[in-house]
Amino acid sequence: MEARPGGGAPVRIFGCGKFKRRTGLSISESFLRRENLRARLFGDTWRTLIPEVFRDVPTYYDKGNAIASLGNCSRCSNKFIAAIRRRLPPGSKVLDVCSGTHDIPLRLLAKDPTLEIDAVDRSPHMTAEGQRRAGERGLTIRAQVCDAHALPFPDETFDAVTLQFASRHLEIIRAFKEIHRVLKPGGVFCHHDMLRPTSRIIEEPYLIYLRGSVWFTAKLFGSSPESTKCIGYFADAIRHFYKPRELTALLKEVGFVEIENRSFLTGVLSYHISRKPPR
Ligand SMILES: C[S@@+](CC[C@H](N)C(=O)[O-])C[C@H]1O[C@@H](n2cnc3c(N)ncnc32)[C@H](O)[C@@H]1O
Repeated sequence: MEARPGGGAPVRIFGCGKFKRRTGLSISESFLRRENLRARLFGDTWRTLIPEVFRDVPTYYDKGNAIASLGNCSRCSNKFIAAIRRRLPPGSKVLDVCSGTHDIPLRLLAKDPTLEIDAVDRSPHMTAEGQRRAGERGLTIRAQVCDAHALPFPDETFDAVTLQFASRHLEIIRAFKEIHRVLKPGGVFCHHDMLRPTSRIIEEPYLIYLRGSVWFTAKLFGSSPESTKCIGYFADAIRHFYKPRELTALLKEVGFVEIENRSFLTGVLSYHISRKPPR
């Protein structure tokens, strides 16, 4: 299937083809339709504006997040890290996708320096800041600048893959299939993001708050015009994103099992820990 958002380059929404042959699983029409809609609505933003936004953000990313989320992002990340660590023996090989300034690798290595961590992100600016932070702490994180939809690793390389605060900007079925491919059988996929809240009573005020807080943060840190153009996008992307239970269903369709989900405020922040079935 193919969508042409805003008449730009085509965004390809992958159906079942090769993956179905490999895993015996297929993705249901409702998820494919939803992904086509997300690509039509946001494909241009993902390709053109998001890379510009993350050119601007590295130096104030942590402070901006803390202000916009009232500290909740960091609190929930701590719980996410604790859940990951329960599944990771010392020396495990971990890949952090859309690693940004390496928040997850740095938190994991602070608890267990024996982990071997690779990181990928499309932004050279976020990656450079992450590498600077790792260097400052004397830690090694092997980083590559590349697209999350085409991971530069052989099949079955990693014991764990992590993905935090980025899947709203991705063709998620395609990205999840790539993650499934590079995980070893029995490996864990750890996902944490701002999802669409299940409760309407929470969703409406939350999205109004989100627009306001992103606008305030952009003004406070003197963001670029590209970041300012994205203020509406951040709330719209959540309105069209998945609720926690929907994400659980999607993970199952991609082939993950043993899915554990914990949510804060019915999905404002939510993590899923799942496993690629052992052979
Ligand atoms: C909000 S930051 C999250 C960074 C980090 N995971 C964290 O928890 O702090 C989103 C990151 O996703 C990256 N990103 C967005 N689209 C991407 C893509 N298609 N491929 C790789 N990275 C992407 C951006 O460059 C940015 O660094």
